[in-house]
Amino acid sequence: MNDLERKRALSGMRPTGSLHLGHYHGALKNWLKLQNEVDCFYFVADWHALTTHYDEIQIIQKHVIDMATDWLAVGLDPHKATLFVQSKIPQHAELFTLLSMHTPLAWLERVPTYKDQLQKLQTKNLLTYGFLGYPLLQAADILVYKAHFVPVGEDQQSHVEMTREIARRFNFLYGDRQKLLTRVEGISKSLPSDLWNDIQKVRQDYQLLGITHAFTKVSELIETHHLSLEDQSALLAYMHGTGYPVLIEPQVLLTEASKLPGLDGQKMSKSYGNAIALRSKKEEIKSKINKMPTDPARIRKTDAGEPNRCPVWEFHKVYSTPSTLEWVANGCRQAKIGCLECKSPLIDSIAEEQEVFIERAEPFLQKPALVQDILDDGSQKARQSAETTLREVRQTLGL
Ligand code: TRP
Ligand code: SF4
Repeated sequence: MNDLERKRALSGMRPTGSLHLGHYHGALKNWLKLQNEVDCFYFVADWHALTTHYDEIQIIQKHVIDMATDWLAVGLDPHKATLFVQSKIPQHAELFTLLSMHTPLAWLERVPTYKDQLQKLQTKNLLTYGFLGYPLLQAADILVYKAHFVPVGEDQQSHVEMTREIARRFNFLYGDRQKLLTRVEGISKSLPSDLWNDIQKVRQDYQLLGITHAFTKVSELIETHHLSLEDQSALLAYMHGTGYPVLIEPQVLLTEASKLPGLDGQKMSKSYGNAIALRSKKEEIKSKINKMPTDPARIRKTDAGEPNRCPVWEFHKVYSTPSTLEWVANGCRQAKIGCLECKSPLIDSIAEEQEVFIERAEPFLQKPALVQDILDDGSQKARQSAETTLREVRQTLGL
């Protein structure tokens, strides 16, 4: 596979608050790893933020540049990944509109996050058209770049699954069948005959009997065959019985949940007041860590404790070396160290990590126009790619 055909990953983040260590250990570390492996598109999802914050637009304005600054601070590199802003790419909205025509309401109403969020965010009227359409806008975000991978947390998995169904429905309704058959016939000549037989069998089983279990195995076989990405998706469309695959079904790349809890042991979140912001200074880190609750059994230094009952231990597991971990575990269980003493190397490690982020952010804080330039460049690149897809989509629909 040549470089032009590197697989593409896409993900977005809503600019609704400042980023903290939970975001770093949850999502961003994964984004960093991926930028060295595949063609990455990362964007600030400001339209998605509006679906829930339509009455607080100042929050969104403030956080677009802040968020991008944090991204650059942790090491996202605009030479490796395309960093951009959703609202600068009107093609997302155009595709969203076109997809809305054939998306059944029931698909949107049954997305688990929809009812969940309606319940949770009761202070606000979220019985809006935009909020119901949230996952469809997300589908447009993904499909407009023909992304293969969507790195997200578990809470977003249902959105990616719906995106797959929406792509398949589009290809089924509008994809040119003759064009697909011609293409598949061409590809079949270069395939080993047993693989080609497998493909035909899976196609039959699926279309006549609805049997899906051989799909994954045969899809994997197809992937190992040095075909172009377009050829691969043509074969998948052939097995599914849709028309020519104008839109590509993305795969979810599940991000492991952040191993780092909040300061109180709950999930880290700014609104719970248990977060350490990215780019925090050492004094701030120190004061927050030193206030962290510890194992309640340790009233005096001479009381033995149990690290597994202590949120500080969870932080150590993320930040400390094996020898420090051993020192903590023994010192705590045998009452040989005090809690403040235990926290001290942790404060150092977090501060050291943040120091790197603070330094990287410095030139961007001096000159926010640099961040704006990076986002403008990224948006231009994204727009070109999105427009290529839209041209194909409009043509397919005869528009
Ligand atoms: N809904 C995502 C979240 O809240 C953000 C998002 C918007 C997104 N569009 C996307 C993520 C497209 C992945 C792909 O985290
Ligand atoms: Fe927690 Fe460390 Fe205190 Fe043990 S010694 S209770 S691990 S802070």
